[in-house]
Amino acid sequence: NWTTGNVIEEQVAAIREQVGDRRAICGLSGGVDSAVAAALVQKAIGSQLTCVYVDHGLMRKGETEQVEKDFVAATGVQLKVVDAEDRFLSALKGVADPEEKRKIIGREFIRVFEQAQAEIIADEGPAVEFLVQGTLYPDVVESGGGTGTANIKSHHNVGGLPEDLEFQLIEPLRKLFKDEVRMVGQELGLPEEIVQRQPFPGPGLGIRIVGDVTKERLDLLREADAIAREELTAAGLDRDIWQCPVVLLADVRSVGVQGDGRTYGHPIVLRPVSSEDAMTADWSRLPYDVLAKISTRITNEVADVNRVVLDVTSKPPGTIEWE
Ligand code: XMP
Repeated sequence: NWTTGNVIEEQVAAIREQVGDRRAICGLSGGVDSAVAAALVQKAIGSQLTCVYVDHGLMRKGETEQVEKDFVAATGVQLKVVDAEDRFLSALKGVADPEEKRKIIGREFIRVFEQAQAEIIADEGPAVEFLVQGTLYPDVVESGGGTGTANIKSHHNVGGLPEDLEFQLIEPLRKLFKDEVRMVGQELGLPEEIVQRQPFPGPGLGIRIVGDVTKERLDLLREADAIAREELTAAGLDRDIWQCPVVLLADVRSVGVQGDGRTYGHPIVLRPVSSEDAMTADWSRLPYDVLAKISTRITNEVADVNRVVLDVTSKPPGTIEWE
């Protein structure tokens, strides 16, 4: 019979058996799946696991700290944080095209991650043979059920990594659905903010700035996004909505009046959606008073933003993200 306790016990035994006295690496993204997978493996093999977190500077307010502090405190995991903000921002400089942004962020991510892996291997020797992945059951089905090894190609030739390093995969969530993963995470004592986190795209806020990405724009969007999330949580709406992208129209300005004068600032778009699986979505009918509060706070508290607009498009035709 299925209980989270049984799942954990079973996986811990299986991982110990698989890994023996060798070592494993796990990339943390801030998302639920990688966090729960890492926590399970940590429970099984302790300090034989090293986690890597690439801070690309595109996370929302407080998210990096959540991984660095709360996740580590809850699990005792050994964590290597790579601060790569400058690197990502310079690679993204002047780029406004969404697909181009994704490509750059993906490419830089792999480079930084591989470099971190190479450093860990250099420190800890050839026994680093396993790579932990937070693959869920729906991912397994979607990709035809294959498993085995990951071929991490180091064609970017980073710091002494062998040409073609073969890792065996540890995928402790392969039989689980998302809600089950959350239950396991909870049982493992992970912070609520991580276990209940709504979907957030890998390229982060990089694809929520319509226009090119700069540190100033990111900081501004982070503030607006934090206010929206705070108010949605305070109103008890987190479970009602699938996610709520907050988007900065960086290349648009409109006229406003604030304080004693005319302003010429940027609009922020709220994109709250309800969905089952993100394939289709409907715009969430949020209570007007919550929207009003978010709008008032963002225009009062975020410099250079003088307008908040609500996206009332379903998917299709609109995607959930703006880019
Ligand atoms: P769209 O915008 O395509 O989004 O309706 C569907 C879901 O996918 C997320 N999303 C991404 N996730 N990398 C990701 O890891 C991406 O490039 C990406 N683009 C969209 C989006 O947040 C939504 O949950």
